[in-house]
Amino acid sequence: MLILSFESSCDETSVAVTKDGKHVLSNEVLSQIDIFKDYGGVVPEISSREHVKGIGFAYTKALEDAGVTIDDIDYVAVTEGPGLIGSLLTGINAAKIVALNNNIPFVGVNHLSGHIYASMIEHDPVFPLLALVISGGHTEMVIMNEDYDFNRIGSTLDDAVGEVFDKVARIISLPYPGGPLVDKIGKEGEAIYDLPRPVINSNDYSFSFSGLKSAVLKLTEDLNKEGIAYKNEDIARSFEEAVADVLYKKVKKALKEYNFKELLVVGGSAANSVIREKLSNGFPDIKVTFPQMKYCGDNAAMIGISAYYKIKKGLFDDMSLQAKSRLDL
Ligand code: KG4
Ligand code: ZN
Repeated sequence: MLILSFESSCDETSVAVTKDGKHVLSNEVLSQIDIFKDYGGVVPEISSREHVKGIGFAYTKALEDAGVTIDDIDYVAVTEGPGLIGSLLTGINAAKIVALNNNIPFVGVNHLSGHIYASMIEHDPVFPLLALVISGGHTEMVIMNEDYDFNRIGSTLDDAVGEVFDKVARIISLPYPGGPLVDKIGKEGEAIYDLPRPVINSNDYSFSFSGLKSAVLKLTEDLNKEGIAYKNEDIARSFEEAVADVLYKKVKKALKEYNFKELLVVGGSAANSVIREKLSNGFPDIKVTFPQMKYCGDNAAMIGISAYYKIKKGLFDDMSLQAKSRLDL
């Protein structure tokens, strides 16, 4: 089964062709990161315009790279939400027109399920599993007993993991998106600062990272005020360790309560080296899986892979599908 998929929920315009819910034949990703570096974050209006500009090229390139034509495609899939409405609309409109014009069945996909299924590219999961989604917009813990069956057990009360990386990056003068840069300089630093681990011992699976961000801000302000020299590398590393500790502790708690055999760590911040190390070494009794680095951030391949399992469950959409800024799993 060949699926042509579209992703445009935030600042990547992406089109992919995937096969049988496991293999990626092509995955064209046009990133807007270079544009938003100078703005300190995504500007929705500019993002929408960039999607409109790039979608046609991404579509042609995805088919070309996969060595197929539209006549070979069995299904068209698209991210329906959550995301920026103006950005989502470009992908949704393009997908609808392609599906309608070529008489191809059409399916909308939740972006978060896409992130989860990014870890299943060329990989067979072991159910039941726990998916830890850590992206720019979301931090969620989801139990899956079988394919396309999502039971959310916890999420963040305020900032998402990727969001707090970006905000901390700004505090130490790194451009958007700060996650990869905090990761990079943190490798040269030591965790010498004792930062809070908010709600680490709470009785549930909620997260809260805005207090950690405030603590980093206060720390740098105090050090500056007192004229004490410090290295941003050490701030970055101390911050990363705090985030990784919280994630580790929540997964450890879930492991006691739920009987799962595999942990999937997915989303943009699943690329982080400190988080990868802590979580991959922390649970010797279960399988711990991360998507390949190129599938951690937003991309259409993960949407096509996820769509396959939605279709297998007999779940379809029609041309009335709407863009949704908020959408739970
Ligand atoms: O999943 P994603 O591409 O977009 C959303 O769905 O939000 O995630 C983007 C987020 C950004 O906040 C970015 O800073 C973060 O992922 N990120 C990282 C790393 N690479 C990307 N965070 C920590 N360490 C990284 N290496
Ligand atoms: Zn994402």
